[in-house]
Amino acid sequence: QAIRENQVSRYASQVSAYPAVRAFLLEMQRNLARTHDVIMDGRDIGTVVLPQADLKIFLTASVEERARRRMLELEERGTPEPYAAILRAIQERDWNDTHRDAAPLRQAEDAVLLGFSQLGSESAWRVGSTRSIEEAAERHGVSLMMLNAYQKQEKQIDAIRSFISYRVDVISFAPIVEDGWDTVLTEAKAAGIPVILVDRLITTEDESLYACFVGADFIKEGRSAGEFLLKKADAMGAKHLNIVEITGTEDSTPQRQRHQGFHDTIAGDERFTVLESISGDFLVSKGEECMRYLLDKYGEDIDVLYSHNDGMTLGAIDAIREYGLSPGSDIIIITVDGEQAAIDLLKAGEINCVVECTPNLGDSVMELAKKLAAGETVPKMSHPDEDVFTEFDDLSDLAPRGY
Ligand code: AHR
Repeated sequence: QAIRENQVSRYASQVSAYPAVRAFLLEMQRNLARTHDVIMDGRDIGTVVLPQADLKIFLTASVEERARRRMLELEERGTPEPYAAILRAIQERDWNDTHRDAAPLRQAEDAVLLGFSQLGSESAWRVGSTRSIEEAAERHGVSLMMLNAYQKQEKQIDAIRSFISYRVDVISFAPIVEDGWDTVLTEAKAAGIPVILVDRLITTEDESLYACFVGADFIKEGRSAGEFLLKKADAMGAKHLNIVEITGTEDSTPQRQRHQGFHDTIAGDERFTVLESISGDFLVSKGEECMRYLLDKYGEDIDVLYSHNDGMTLGAIDAIREYGLSPGSDIIIITVDGEQAAIDLLKAGEINCVVECTPNLGDSVMELAKKLAAGETVPKMSHPDEDVFTEFDDLSDLAPRGY
């Protein structure tokens, strides 16, 4: 118990910076492993003390989380300390341990530590994306430090800062919005850590702030949505169609580009009028709310709904049914993502077109991370292949979507 006291852990990293102390301990620890079966836990065990261990686990968490756990532990023991003081002490200790000359804290040479900041859990697509990253990390033997930002850019910035202080090999993140990343990415660049943008882009004057991007071509997705509408209007012999658009999170790449691709495609065609375009933030609940508002305002004048994701579309469909109209026939529905629930509604005739956006980027992210950690160059932009599913297609052989 006594060695777990706060005072001890505070002095441990100072004392262990002395080479003579480390040399003495090293021999003692190796001797233990020579003569016994051991499980050893410590900051340089896998890299210095027992580099040939049968199993090495590099386990880590953000400084904030460790400070929170430490605070609870001290409270339970009846020796509480303020969170800010604990946080500072952990930060200092990390810095001392990673920068000392004798046996510094670091991962084994052959390991790749990837810090990934997921932007939230706003949709089934996002949940699928998180799963894809976690499963791929395991398959590729990449150590993953994943933090969820719960839709807050400040939290993503904090996560990136803690990845930097952890000296991860590669940072990746799905930026919730495009603007506001230059400062933190300049810090990552100064620390020599390459950055992979996943799923969404950023706006910056300095393209060297990130090594590469992997994610969908959202302009193409918007164009596919527009092309379907042109085909549908031709098939119906429509003279005029009124469109409402429910967009994703404002200032995010899919919102900007899905809007642009769609509008560029139908621009100049006098059969179409866009009544209104509003943001539903990629959420089911807001999709429903937006559609109610649009129906109250335009009622049966609405001919087409173009929605930027399946989650919002599902919410909007509830609102359309509640209003007494039939989705897919009274209102043409065009959606993006390709969740199983949307494909089921497409097959049932309640959605007319689903533009695919795959959340399965995990394998590409891990391959890029391993190459970047090895100092290799990688392509600046890569997009997965994506499909479009419409009422004009035979979907009987379509495999289960998995998200
Ligand atoms: O960035 C991709 C988008 O984000 C998906 O289309 C949407 O469902 C998600 O929330």
